[in-house]
Amino acid sequence: MSLRIGDYAPNFSAQTTLGEIDFHQWLGDSWGIIYSHPADFTPVCTTELGRTAQLKDEFEKRGTKVAAISTDDLDSHIGWIDDINETQNTQVEFPIIADADKKVATLYNMIHPNFSTTATVRSVYFIDPDKKIQAIITYPASTGRNFAEILRVLDSLQLTAAHSVATPVDWEPGQDVIISPSVKQEDVEAKFPKGHRVIKPYLRYTPQPNK
Ligand code: BEZ
Repeated sequence: MSLRIGDYAPNFSAQTTLGEIDFHQWLGDSWGIIYSHPADFTPVCTTELGRTAQLKDEFEKRGTKVAAISTDDLDSHIGWIDDINETQNTQVEFPIIADADKKVATLYNMIHPNFSTTATVRSVYFIDPDKKIQAIITYPASTGRNFAEILRVLDSLQLTAAHSVATPVDWEPGQDVIISPSVKQEDVEAKFPKGHRVIKPYLRYTPQPNK
């Protein structure tokens, strides 16, 4: 199934390293990230899952639950966690979904057959509290993801869900944001009391509203 931004994130039940979960129940009212890695006991994946564990507080600050998934089985995941903890100096406390039958990977279009018919690529799905997919990023097996970028995307998604703004190129939290074109100029002052700059009628900046 090809999932796109705005689609409902499909539900599933699965075995994980934290026990059986119903995905939607597990997410509850939180934001969520489900991300795939190609295989357990592989070097790049080990660093990525280690980084996820190291960033536990950052994900918690953003009210976001994270789950990893590969097409390996539960015993493999459980055995690998010890290596991740040891080599990345952390404690994996988030669930890793066992998907040996590829049910979830197929549902989330994480298997790209021209890469592999059995292993997942590095997909990341950002899911909002209404279970809508808000962003999707996909990397090949050979390129480890940038988790600072994953947090930055999450910050942008959460900010733009709450305010009529968009985040410009290379935006980092705390920097000025762009006023949505849908906001009429006569409403800008009331909506953005911190002030604004008009560069062009369609290019208007304001300080980040929630900082
Ligand atoms: C890795 O995690 O290092 C990896 C996994 C599959 C293919 C290539 C690299």
